[in-house]
Amino acid sequence: MSSAVTNSVSSLVQSLGEIPPEAVVFGYSEAMQALRDRLAKIAAANVPVLIHGESGTGKDIIARLVHSLSPWKSGPFVKVNCPAIPGTLLESELFGYERGAFTGAYGSKPGRVEMAHRGSLFLDEISELDMPLQSKLLQLLQDGQFCRIGAQADKKVEVRIVCATNRRLEDEIENGTFRQDLFYRINVVNLYMPPLRERRGDIATLVEYFLEHYNRKYNCKARPVTPELMEVLQKYHWPGNIRELENLIKRYVILGTEDVISADLQPRDSDLLSPDINFDGPISLKKLTRQATRALERKIILKVLHNHHWNRKQAARTLNISYRALLYKIRDAGLPPNRAKKEAAKTQVAAD
Ligand SMILES: Nc1ncnc2c1ncn2[C@@H]1O[C@H](COP(=O)(O)OP(=O)(O)OP(=O)(O)O)[C@@H](O)[C@H]1O
Ligand SMILES: [Mg+2]
Repeated sequence: MSSAVTNSVSSLVQSLGEIPPEAVVFGYSEAMQALRDRLAKIAAANVPVLIHGESGTGKDIIARLVHSLSPWKSGPFVKVNCPAIPGTLLESELFGYERGAFTGAYGSKPGRVEMAHRGSLFLDEISELDMPLQSKLLQLLQDGQFCRIGAQADKKVEVRIVCATNRRLEDEIENGTFRQDLFYRINVVNLYMPPLRERRGDIATLVEYFLEHYNRKYNCKARPVTPELMEVLQKYHWPGNIRELENLIKRYVILGTEDVISADLQPRDSDLLSPDINFDGPISLKKLTRQATRALERKIILKVLHNHHWNRKQAARTLNISYRALLYKIRDAGLPPNRAKKEAAKTQVAAD
């Protein structure tokens, strides 16, 4: 474990109070250990970094860590959320403008590129940049120069560029929406954030961390989750990754009942049709089919219960199974045992 990474994480914990401790950020899975080693290696080199991975995997946290490890760590960390700024405004937001550059430009304004001088510029969702902006960014990466809108001369900045994306930029290049030369420039170091389902060994640590964090934050006393529920959490495939797990534990802490978690862990239709298959190794058709069948059964039971206003006797009749069998299946599928609990879970989910 690199002491540079350790120090930097602890200083972030102190300064921001929100970055989780190192053991939580990296966990113990092989993929995250490899990420930590890579991060330690690139610490001193002031090269562009591209962080990619599904939504909710922690790209933001890692971008901040990259900054805190860089030679310009005492400089600014400037984040630009590209999709959040409408296309026409993004250029002036990024590169700034001179007085009279366009109607309404009564004064001059520096862009975020300038604000990040001697610090890091974090471009989140980089695939959202349109082609003209991609060209301007390419120039910045090539010679550290850029031009404010309406300016006569170029300006020079020293800035570390960190980009993030949850799309495959190679596909965007193929589609003609992302410049290949820009891709090579931003992708000097590549950091891959594995999805939570590829690092299941870290789920327990994360659950424990969020439980403690939100118990403290909301002044609650939610107990550790039961081993049964932990097993469900370990098996779920987490399309929303750590963000989804965090929200789930937050609800559990506030409501104090595990039913809210069970109610949340329903597979979506698309998950049933495309189960999480890892083609690297042998595939068990039997296992996958069993999982999909169980998920489908759970969905049907839930629907029938709903149609009968949670009257389990009527639901059992409709499903043509015994009442006892239905009770067993409800418990086995981790569904709320009765309507009151289901409603409590639903209300909170909606209010959240
Ligand atoms: N390793 C981690 N330890 C604790 N919390 C984490 C970790 N990774 C992510 N989180 C939490 O999960 C949530 C999502 O993380 P983050 O915003 O960094 O994801 P992201 O990959 O940037 O997602 P998006 O692509 O949607 O922007 C945040 O609330 C963050 O605090
Ligand atoms: Mg993000």
